Amino acid sequence: MGVDLAEVGRVRKLLRRDPDRFRARCFTDHEWAYAHRFKDPSERLAARFAGKEAVMKSLGVGWRHVPWKDIEITGGGAPTVQLSGKAARRAESLGVRRVLVTITHTNGQALVMALSLGDHTPLQ
Ligand SMILES: CC(C)(COP(=O)(O)OP(=O)(O)OC[C@H]1O[C@@H](n2cnc3c(N)ncnc32)[C@H](O)[C@@H]1OP(=O)(O)O)[C@@H](O)C(=O)NCCC(=O)NCCS
Repeated sequence: MGVDLAEVGRVRKLLRRDPDRFRARCFTDHEWAYAHRFKDPSERLAARFAGKEAVMKSLGVGWRHVPWKDIEITGGGAPTVQLSGKAARRAESLGVRRVLVTITHTNGQALVMALSLGDHTPLQ
């Protein structure tokens, strides 16, 4: 399991200061486009940022080892997690088959919990 809490205000500032760099480093095209469907994209981006950290925790790694964009948190209905690159290799080495996340946010904070499941985890 992993959990993370992000301050939306911090993300709002980063977004104002250098949006291109923030995007290139942290977000996939899907995440960026989804967040920009809303008047203030900061809330959804903060949730995706927290989500990536929560997923890293559930995989027992940190951002020094896994690039942010290797973990994508989809938007539009129930969120899903897509792993690629180093994150996908880490999951494979642990026998993780599926990663679940649940998200909540306000204009102040975004909270995400993640759960990494293996082949033998009962799932209903
Ligand atoms: C889903 C719902 C409960 C969210 O509650 P909320 O208090 O408005 O908003 P929160 O900040 O707590 O949650 C927002 C997040 O819920 C998640 N979410 C949306 N639909 C979801 C669903 N069907 N199942 C699980 N999570 C969902 C999303 O990740 C969303 O964040 P995102 O837009 O950044 O991806 C509410 O929008 C709703 O009732 N929608 C109608 C669909 C429905 O009945 N779903 C039942 C699933 S519990």
